[in-house]
Amino acid sequence: MTDTPAAGGLALPVPDAALADRLERRMQRVEEALAGHVVSRTRYVTEAASHLLAAGGKRFRPLLVLLAAEVGPHPDDPEVIDAACVVELTHVGSLYHDDVMDEAELRRGADSANARWDNHVAILTGDFLFAKSSELTAQLGPEAVRIQAETFARLVEGQILETVPPAEGEDPLAHHLDVVAGKTGSLIATSARYGARFGGASREVEEALTAYGEIVGTAFQLSDDILDIASDTDESGKTPGTDLREGVPTLPVLMARASTDPADARLRELLDSDLTDDERHAEALALLRSHPAMTQARDYVVGRAREAKRLLTVLPEGPVRTALESFADVVATRTT
Ligand code: IPE
Ligand code: IPE
Ligand code: MG
Ligand code: MG
Repeated sequence: MTDTPAAGGLALPVPDAALADRLERRMQRVEEALAGHVVSRTRYVTEAASHLLAAGGKRFRPLLVLLAAEVGPHPDDPEVIDAACVVELTHVGSLYHDDVMDEAELRRGADSANARWDNHVAILTGDFLFAKSSELTAQLGPEAVRIQAETFARLVEGQILETVPPAEGEDPLAHHLDVVAGKTGSLIATSARYGARFGGASREVEEALTAYGEIVGTAFQLSDDILDIASDTDESGKTPGTDLREGVPTLPVLMARASTDPADARLRELLDSDLTDDERHAEALALLRSHPAMTQARDYVVGRAREAKRLLTVLPEGPVRTALESFADVVATRTT
């Protein structure tokens, strides 16, 4: 099982103790509400829908809602808690579907739903979670519904675009960044936006935080992909090298592929082959782990985090801005 904020602590460090304490208390309310939102009139559905929620997860998106709400005059508003639940329910629903797409067996340190039950159950449970998320969004008003619908469309477009190669003449890296902004940047942007909006921030601040969330979300996914290559199962709660096995392009792979160094000939050959074979997969993973593309990819992500932090200058200096800055830093250099 991976750590859950329900077990105490926050997904990311919040340097100011009073702020951390407020966020922890609100996160507790979010946890309790989430458990209620996945209850179905059918026991089997409740069990399937609770499965990944109970398995853990960082709760990064709801935490960002709560933190972004702190920039406004009413961060404690019940709508902030609802918005935090909306983004986590949407996220968890997308994980059920993603694990079917990626044929992943492990999620949040537990069996994925497709492994524990089957693809049908995983897909329909994802749909159930999206429905629950929509039901809750409706309580936040038509504007929130529109934002949620647009976000979800971008997420799904990103997931679909990932399965399609870049168009003729399109830069593979640009295509990849487009995929990542859609599948992950969109929902993290909306997390920051909902926080600002339901905490009562000005329109200018809401827009700045949305742009910040989009970049942080993109950096979050790029870091995650670097970890997929660099980490062990115990740290990530997922099976390392899954993207590689499934042929899903990631930043370090695209950067390594772009190398013309003759010493990389074997790696390029492996990357062009079927890596579902265990031996070839292990060899490619080892070569990638020690390749300079890993550092190049990490440096790129740190640069994006810097870009995100610059957007925070619309906020007054203080613990909330500092925490948002440290969020961007930690996301870029994450090790779990
Ligand atoms: C997993 O998201 C999918 C990505 C966007 C990388 P998280 O890394 O936030 O997963 P949990 O919620 O902590 O399990
Ligand atoms: C997750 O993408 C993005 C969404 C769920 C929308 P990945 O496939 O890259 O994430 P992991 O590695 O399985 O968590
Ligand atoms: Mg996946
Ligand atoms: Mg995927």
